[in-house]
Amino acid sequence: MSTLAGKHIVLGLSGGIAAYKSAELCRALVKAGVTVQVVMTEAAEHFMTAVTMQALSGKPVFTSQWDSREPSNMAHIHLSRDADAILVAPASADFMAKLLHGRADELLSLMCLARPIAQVPLILAPAMNREMWANPATQRNVAQLKADGIHVLDVGQGDQACGETGDGRMLEAEEILEDLEAFFTPKVLTGKSVLVTAGPTYEAIDPVRGITNLSSGKMGFAIARAARMAGADVTLIAGPVSLHTPRGVKRVNVRSAHDMLQAVQVHVPDQGVFVATAAVADWRPANSAEQKIKKDSSGQTPQLSFVENPDILATVAQSAAAQTGALFCVGFAAESHDLLAHATAKRIRKGVPLLVGNIGPDTFGQDDNALLLVDASGARELPHGPKQELAVQLMTDIANRLTLHAGSFGVGG
Ligand code: C5P
Repeated sequence: MSTLAGKHIVLGLSGGIAAYKSAELCRALVKAGVTVQVVMTEAAEHFMTAVTMQALSGKPVFTSQWDSREPSNMAHIHLSRDADAILVAPASADFMAKLLHGRADELLSLMCLARPIAQVPLILAPAMNREMWANPATQRNVAQLKADGIHVLDVGQGDQACGETGDGRMLEAEEILEDLEAFFTPKVLTGKSVLVTAGPTYEAIDPVRGITNLSSGKMGFAIARAARMAGADVTLIAGPVSLHTPRGVKRVNVRSAHDMLQAVQVHVPDQGVFVATAAVADWRPANSAEQKIKKDSSGQTPQLSFVENPDILATVAQSAAAQTGALFCVGFAAESHDLLAHATAKRIRKGVPLLVGNIGPDTFGQDDNALLLVDASGARELPHGPKQELAVQLMTDIANRLTLHAGSFGVGG
């Protein structure tokens, strides 16, 4: 379930061609369990009908402060009082200029001005032509709106409806949803850098064949996403998986265990947390053939021999940063049975303060999991649930450990 479930959002539309994305956004918000009250400016109605937005939000749309459905005629007051946030998407250049000056000549700007600023945050998703976006007047306005405590989302980059290409597109609905979720997530990891490994590795036998494993990367990607939502600067080193990069996360793609180790070594300096979720292949073929090994008619099968891969987690855990507590290392263990015993032994063998156990065959490729957090003092269960929710709980747990034991991590016995 999304962390947005149960929230009440007033979705404002000002005039811009990006209003077509607001229909999708409204639908996505409703799907995430949000109740949506749509408010549109007159200009917005030139791009999108109130009928469409009513059908998607399941609520009558407000477009005028003179709306006679409001018994007291105070829609600009009542609409925002129960809201968890007002989200204006698209926020046009003109609408932002208006907000900046506290002007209130139609319902949406009037409602924004009349909102209780301490309780109802205002979030803007700007949308405009690239020249309008780059104009010093717009940039000045954005800077001042931010200084006034208004949360201005980024703009997208690419082809624009006007035929030009550049900055100024409104973010896609799913990106806005991600940013909204991040907005509501407690920032327990602000100022921290988190490095995550995820997915399987692929060890080549020849240019067309290799050995790998069943890891989908979902748990590691969920952890990277949760860490970013919690305010961390996140780098995700991913083996070959076909998953979307979580928004705001730096992703480095690798293939083999060797590549993964190299990428980790490049990125690990200056990190505060290292979470190794990758299912690194234990062995690789001793020799990877440069050309495809051909099947001949002799009936002979190729003779493969293997060498052990470097243990990335154990290598990092032995670094000075990890040993002095500057880097907090977390390992994962995918077991098939005796989770507590195996996870406890693995934590000590890897030399990490926290090891997270899960039952591999139950979770490979699934969206759900159950975790067992094992440290020097014992074990704690995070019961069965969606990987994304477990990732949030794990990040909260790690943040607490960072606060409680800053500078005094020990592997212990
Ligand atoms: O030894 P095992 O593969 O069960 O250990 C699992 C933990 O160690 C995971 O955190 C995994 O990402 C990490 N690991 C690693 N490099 C390896 C093998 C495992 O970082 N070569």
